Amino acid sequence: MKRSLLLIMAAAFISSAEAALAQAPIVIKFSHVVAPDTPKGKGALKFKELAETYTGGRVSVEVYPNSSLYKDKEEIEALQLGSVQMLAPATAKFAPLGVKEFEALDLPWLFKDEATYAAAMKGPIGKYLFKKLEAKGLTGLGYWDNGFYLASSNRPLIEPSDFQGLKIRISGSKVADRYYREVGAVPQIMAFSEVYQALQTGVVDGCENTASNYLTQKFHEVQKHITTSYHEHLQYAVIVNSKFWAGLPADIRAQLEKAMDEATDYTNSIAKKENDDALAELKASGKSTFHDLSDAQRARWAQAMRPTYRWAVGRVGQEVIDLIFTELK
Ligand code: LMR
Repeated sequence: MKRSLLLIMAAAFISSAEAALAQAPIVIKFSHVVAPDTPKGKGALKFKELAETYTGGRVSVEVYPNSSLYKDKEEIEALQLGSVQMLAPATAKFAPLGVKEFEALDLPWLFKDEATYAAAMKGPIGKYLFKKLEAKGLTGLGYWDNGFYLASSNRPLIEPSDFQGLKIRISGSKVADRYYREVGAVPQIMAFSEVYQALQTGVVDGCENTASNYLTQKFHEVQKHITTSYHEHLQYAVIVNSKFWAGLPADIRAQLEKAMDEATDYTNSIAKKENDDALAELKASGKSTFHDLSDAQRARWAQAMRPTYRWAVGRVGQEVIDLIFTELK
């Protein structure tokens, strides 16, 4: 009698554990390296809100900002291993995956303005680049905008010769490496989370980034001169592990795609204003001196960095360059 009671209790325990398991939400860990108060930071939180609402809580999105879970290189490895499910790295950081074509987007003064950038990424280039990721077991879900780069150091950067001998932190792209070498600088790849300290201690002399990243990382507190050069565009590719994504129940995946499309539109709609506001705040802080380039000065930078275009063909391939230039014609 006692024994059968025990068996009944055990069976009840197992089935309630099974039910709990069935109801346990699917967890998506979304790791990124910037502050929550940036276009990407806000986009990730918007995705979380929409994904959890649309799936009625069947999915739980855990957002880890500020490299709190992984730094640049580690997060890509973590995605491949399945330790995180979603990332939004700068497209300059895909070379370690064996996808160099994204670096074509780092060519200096490639997009003349935000509208040109946005139109290009909606066209064949955006699709072509996502296709490259597929071969590596990754699925691209959207491109998130973060505007154009400023450049800075402790001396004014006005003419190409001002870069001579400066150690400049870059985020990962060999195309960026090349355009700095063209003006005599010494570029150095470094994880985003290490940049502030490297600037502060003089490990590097300067860097490039968007206004929202300068402000939230306090780069302006350790850089005396910032130039509004807008020489390169920063965009992210939101990516997931294809096996994980394909393994989701179809109804859940559809809701997540809807949440991602809306979070993408939201992020892209706020990016310009977020960066304009951040620039105003940086200027108002009085910590750095700001320099705007005249048309002639910008033309001299562009001219000096121009050999990068020819060099890049060997790095990224003619195909992606042709696609971009057909689009930009
Ligand atoms: C950087 O490393 O400078 C950027 O990619 C950081 C980011 O994600 O905006």
